[in-house]
Amino acid sequence: MSESMAGLKRTHYCGEITEQLLDQDVVIMGWVQHRRDHGGLVFIDLRDRSGLVQTVFNPQEDPKTHEKSHEVRAEYVLALVGRVRRRPADMINPKLATGGVEVFIRELRVLNQAKTPPFVVDDYSEVNETVRLKHRYLDLRRPSVLKNFVVRHQVAKITRDYFADQGFLEIETPVLTKSTPEGARDYLVPSRVNRGSFFALPQSPQLFKQLLMIGGLDRYCQIVKCFRDEDLRAERQPEFTQIDLEMSFMSQDEIIELLEGYLVQVFEKVLGVQLERPFGRMTYDQAILGYGIDRPDLRYGLEMVDLGQVFENSQAQVFVEALRSGGVIRGINAKGAGKFSRKQLDDLVALAIGLGAKGLAWLRLTDQGFQGPLAKFLSPEERQALIEVLKAEVGDVLFFGADSADLVAQVLGQIRLKLAEELDLIKAHQYALTWVTDFPMFEFDPQTKRWTAKHHPFTCPRDEDLEFLESEPGRVKALAYDLVLNGSEICGGSIRIHRPEVQSQVFKTLGLSPNETKEKFGFFLEALDYGTPPHGGCAFGLDRLVMSLTGMASLRDVIAFPKTQKAICPLTEAPGGVSDQQLLELGLKIDKSQIS
Ligand code: AMO
Ligand code: AMP
Repeated sequence: MSESMAGLKRTHYCGEITEQLLDQDVVIMGWVQHRRDHGGLVFIDLRDRSGLVQTVFNPQEDPKTHEKSHEVRAEYVLALVGRVRRRPADMINPKLATGGVEVFIRELRVLNQAKTPPFVVDDYSEVNETVRLKHRYLDLRRPSVLKNFVVRHQVAKITRDYFADQGFLEIETPVLTKSTPEGARDYLVPSRVNRGSFFALPQSPQLFKQLLMIGGLDRYCQIVKCFRDEDLRAERQPEFTQIDLEMSFMSQDEIIELLEGYLVQVFEKVLGVQLERPFGRMTYDQAILGYGIDRPDLRYGLEMVDLGQVFENSQAQVFVEALRSGGVIRGINAKGAGKFSRKQLDDLVALAIGLGAKGLAWLRLTDQGFQGPLAKFLSPEERQALIEVLKAEVGDVLFFGADSADLVAQVLGQIRLKLAEELDLIKAHQYALTWVTDFPMFEFDPQTKRWTAKHHPFTCPRDEDLEFLESEPGRVKALAYDLVLNGSEICGGSIRIHRPEVQSQVFKTLGLSPNETKEKFGFFLEALDYGTPPHGGCAFGLDRLVMSLTGMASLRDVIAFPKTQKAICPLTEAPGGVSDQQLLELGLKIDKSQIS
């Protein structure tokens, strides 16, 4: 039977009970972590948001309360009244903040009972993720899960404070809206009042924040939910949170400086880590050339080097062919990989082939010189040049990709990540930040044979490239900047187009007819005509930022009620069906042949 807490007022959180409270009376409330019977004495570990404290029930001191403590089971909700005592010296638990004390209980109230939970609520039991998410409210009670939400709260608070101090206004933008293209599919909401019409949930508040600049609000910020129907990975959720920012009359450099100031505060206040300013910067082209990816992980080197010149007169068929067909040869020096087994090397080759490469040539530098599949084709000059260009030493292994530039970047980019793992180069609590700038404005999609926007269509091309918007979209670079933390894109932004004729031209390059443009973005193009200030901004992925700060491996660890890889919520079982009546009201019919 559960009891009332009437007349009792909690005096402390469990985690606050330390030596400073010795011999004081306390009232604590929380969940039963564990109950142990020790020949007469009963110990109950009580848990709340702040941590654990050990409580003691002594039959000599209070026989009735002691008797009652036997009813208690894991996850029961208790109110306990007692006195804080020092633990016997041999019972001190240095791993617990409260490990030097225990509370001798004289009153126990069972505020609520609990069924036996489907898993032990602690940090030591391995629990299947689906079970955890189905019972997320139990999972959240685990200290290692709960602490992530404390960090998430801290980041949100620092964000609001920092940007408010910088003159930003927090403004909400609509959730029921029109499509805002960010490269994913929209989540649609049917309108009952306007049958046959749909709202789209925002992929981002992009157009609204630009309208706010046109509206003269000057500096906007919002911690906002965004919705994207896209293939999910550990780094992506269908519903996620952005720290969304926009500002008028600011250059790219000014924006970057302001954002660096923000991140410095986040790292200092959350982790006590001092980030060095200014952060590093590289262009998109440099990132692709050196790391094969536009979000390079700079916690380690393993940089790619172009070897076209070294091998221009090569005898190795694979290199000759690549160069002859207009491709490239690039290499990575995996320092210390000489210790790799043949199987490790074969697995790397298999990984490259799985990614579409024809192979992955490698050379091991031993005290007898180079060894490996292509060693016999190397001239003495090539050997010398490789040692110099790749700074190779005995004990290193060099890996080579020879193919089209895109394929080599992609393949060696992945090989680089795998090498870092195999060579154990990634250490905990390391934070490598870099800006990546000068992105291409467009990307050609060979499937649809159309140009698509690399960031989004409102990104401003560089002035000097405007003349190529129509004739050579592939060479237009944008005033876009991403911030990359340990290989994860945590922020993306740009200076925006503020001139209507440039915006119209970008839509044209994207293959939108004037009618389509008008239908999708007419309201926005019209607004641009009424005195739009130069403006720019960005959005941080709050979930990704918190994931990095907490060292978690998945966004699901930092979202209170996340979706699975299949975009469902195991707890509520959303999405679910709707009644025939609802469908009728919306004027919708389900085509059952489309449901597998
Ligand atoms: P972008 O599409 O780069 O830019 O998104 C900004 C940041 O949001 C995070 N992010 C995600 N996080 C979790 N799950 C997802 N599915 C997901 N998609 C994106 C990333 C990313 O860097 N309107 C522009 C911003 C701007 O130009 O101001 C935008 O949305 O960390
Ligand atoms: P092959 O001449 O196909 O037997 O390949 C000789 C070596 O070069 C093998 O180690 C292959 O893995 C490697 N190799 C083949 N094609 C490529 C390529 N395009 N890029 C890099 N290495 C390659």
